[in-house]
Amino acid sequence: MQVALKIWRFDARTGERALREYEVDAPEEATLLDCLDIVKDRLDGTLAYRKSCRMMICGSCGMRMDGAAVLACKVRMHDIAQAGHVPVVSAMGNLPIVKDLVVDMEPFWGKIRAVTPWLEPGYSDPGETEYVVSQEQMDVIHKESLCIMCGCCVSECNSMEADPDFLGPAALAKGMRFVGDARDRATVERLQAYSEPHGIWDCTRCYFCNERCPKGVDPRDAIAKLGAEAMKAGIDRDMGAKHAKWFVTSAKTTGWLRETELVPKTQGVVKAIKEIKFAMSLLPKGKVPPPFPPHVAADVGESRALFDLVKTQGRDGAAGIVQGEKALMHLSHEGESVDGPSHPYDDPRSFVRPYLPDDEPDAD
Ligand code: SF4
Ligand code: SF4
Ligand code: FES
Repeated sequence: MQVALKIWRFDARTGERALREYEVDAPEEATLLDCLDIVKDRLDGTLAYRKSCRMMICGSCGMRMDGAAVLACKVRMHDIAQAGHVPVVSAMGNLPIVKDLVVDMEPFWGKIRAVTPWLEPGYSDPGETEYVVSQEQMDVIHKESLCIMCGCCVSECNSMEADPDFLGPAALAKGMRFVGDARDRATVERLQAYSEPHGIWDCTRCYFCNERCPKGVDPRDAIAKLGAEAMKAGIDRDMGAKHAKWFVTSAKTTGWLRETELVPKTQGVVKAIKEIKFAMSLLPKGKVPPPFPPHVAADVGESRALFDLVKTQGRDGAAGIVQGEKALMHLSHEGESVDGPSHPYDDPRSFVRPYLPDDEPDAD
């Protein structure tokens, strides 16, 4: 098949930048990486990009195609070429370009180092026998353990674009990999460190990292787990944590998100008075919520029951999010098992049946 590509070339020595078009004859099963190999081999040996495994394992070939981060060895070109589309290939975002499609990964590794990416077992003597960890305990960090450090999530992170010091999705997902590890004994220290400015609460929840991660790590979900674990441990000084807590209180007491009270409840009355001018500027745009909820919501009992259920079942902290992930996974596979389809809530080892509207929580 004929594959056409436009590639942003960059020469760090001269600062020259140019969009060049190439066309190659590639086999039908070719990936973007295969096509780059053909370009380099037959058309232009000066093209620079990284690769190693060619099978989505090493994380070397992160780059952007049509503005979105991809692993070049994961993208099949057949349908793109058949559609007559000419994709634009460029270096990943949020990292300095060294040459063409190669970025400097040092800022990335610096963030990874900052989260203490190793197990802190809390003992120095390894002992005589091995320490056994159950599959259920490891399931909690299954997704975070899949990270291949490719940087695709970092490339697309809005917060990092605004604040280069933000720890970012890959490092925070790595942090959750150890916070959730039953063997680690530095959980509180980790949560305190990750809750500092440029940490957990500086994520804007845009979910682009989840969307672009080629391995299903879902870094944004890992950050949500860290936030939940931090609050469970009473580490809630940051404004983001205070906001989250107020929303829970607000939903539990009246069933409404009482945004007008958000600033005085979380930042204090003085700050709220200072913000009045800004709030007034939002008024003509229809962006100011009513000062008080019109009434307690008719079905507030549902939100209170949900709150109690989460507490009594110990589903605050990361556990509730992990259970939600499992539920979605089971539902997406329609509860299939080796013995045929089964109801996703039937297996008592999997997760607690969620409470649904018009439904009563399980007695047990
Ligand atoms: S969800 Fe948060 S960490 Fe992920 S890309 Fe958006 S801002 Fe970055
Ligand atoms: S979380 Fe996903 S996108 Fe980010 S570095 Fe790990 S594998 Fe790559
Ligand atoms: S070459 Fe290893 S992930 Fe693509």
